[in-house]
Amino acid sequence: MQIVHPDIEAYMGELLPQRHPVLLEMEQEAREQDFPIIGPLVGNHLAQLARMTGARRIMELGSGFGYSALWFAQALDDDGEIICTDGSASNRTRAEAAFAEVGVRPRISFHTGDALQLFNGIEGTFDLIFCDIDKHEYPEAYRMSVPRLRRGGILVFDNALWYGRMLEGNSDASTKGVAELNRIAFEDDRVHAGLVPIRDGLLVCRVR
Ligand SMILES: C[S@@+](CC[C@H](N)C(=O)[O-])C[C@H]1O[C@@H](n2cnc3c(N)ncnc32)[C@H](O)[C@@H]1O
Repeated sequence: MQIVHPDIEAYMGELLPQRHPVLLEMEQEAREQDFPIIGPLVGNHLAQLARMTGARRIMELGSGFGYSALWFAQALDDDGEIICTDGSASNRTRAEAAFAEVGVRPRISFHTGDALQLFNGIEGTFDLIFCDIDKHEYPEAYRMSVPRLRRGGILVFDNALWYGRMLEGNSDASTKGVAELNRIAFEDDRVHAGLVPIRDGLLVCRVR
């Protein structure tokens, strides 16, 4: 199920200002390799959230080849910090080349391995956590993330509407993971939760 009418999505896309050529290259690469990235509408929204909250320290769970991190990097001041995680070393290599090309490499560290284990080993609190790992891990990622955010900090999950599969009686692990995530977030009185229906949906939670 497509969440947003394609004509509306195209209209929204046309409104976006011109983006860095490296982002355009990465979008092309994602299309060619059928690699899932957040795309420009979500990227623009994430950058907006980072700016609105004055984020300085961002944790990313599931960074792929660095596309979403680049959107964050463009929204941070020079003293900002982004910590990327991904299971694939080749994604890290590609990401670091892109960060260097855009000139944001000093602001970003990239850790390879299991994102949740890595997250456990990284100290401190965050202004914003963005999660885009395997969907069956979303509830666990949520439980780990809320205590790691400062008051007023933001937690965002991509694919929170999961192409509407939870409405189609789908019971695979990914669909169950997304449905449980949304349920626990909206029941959690430590946060204000909201669903933003752009692309495949974003769950955005702000810590009270
Ligand atoms: C949807 S892609 C991320 C795309 C990226 N956020 C972007 O938009 O540019 C998901 C990535 O998460 C990684 N991944 C999934 N589950 C993971 C886990 N438990 N630990 C580490 N990486 C994981 C996959 O290797 C993949 O590169």
